[in-house]
Amino acid sequence: MKNPKLIRVLFVCLGNICRSPAAHAVFQAMVNMAGLGEKFQIDSAGILDYHQGELPDPRMQQTAKKRGYVLDHRSRPIALADFSSYDVILAMDRDILRTLQELLESKANNRTPTAKICLFTDFLQNSHRGIDVPDPYWSGQEGFEHVMDLIEEGCEALLEALTQGALSCERE
Ligand code: 4NP
Repeated sequence: MKNPKLIRVLFVCLGNICRSPAAHAVFQAMVNMAGLGEKFQIDSAGILDYHQGELPDPRMQQTAKKRGYVLDHRSRPIALADFSSYDVILAMDRDILRTLQELLESKANNRTPTAKICLFTDFLQNSHRGIDVPDPYWSGQEGFEHVMDLIEEGCEALLEALTQGALSCERE
């Protein structure tokens, strides 16, 4: 039987080899540190299936490792069933957010979608609220560090919001 109190969280980016697996690992680490591992089910996915089965980009792995996170997720594309299997889906940028909303509207889906689709930075209470976590794929090392800074900040705000019962954002 499903645990009714389980909060199911899915992070989504384009390739599922940089931003979303990093957010997935950082959020999992914060949840574990808070002793809330049993309360959350966390995963990540991409819009593209191009990198399916691959480990995260080595540059993302290295940047995360320096901060104590191990990225061992294997890339997978988002599936329609995810819109019903998760409570909150976090888009890492506004293009991904639009794509997720279009996917949900355009595809026939027999199961009623239950997930709230939010922008990852929607839960921040500072000037970073509503901004994109930029795609670092074509950037240098500083791009990956910037991504990690935003992800650590965003995951902290997300955990605080979700533990206070906020399962949605203003975009629902
Ligand atoms: P991600 O980064 O969306 O953060 O995983 C990217 C990874 C791969 C590609 C684009 C973005 N790509 O075009 O292959």
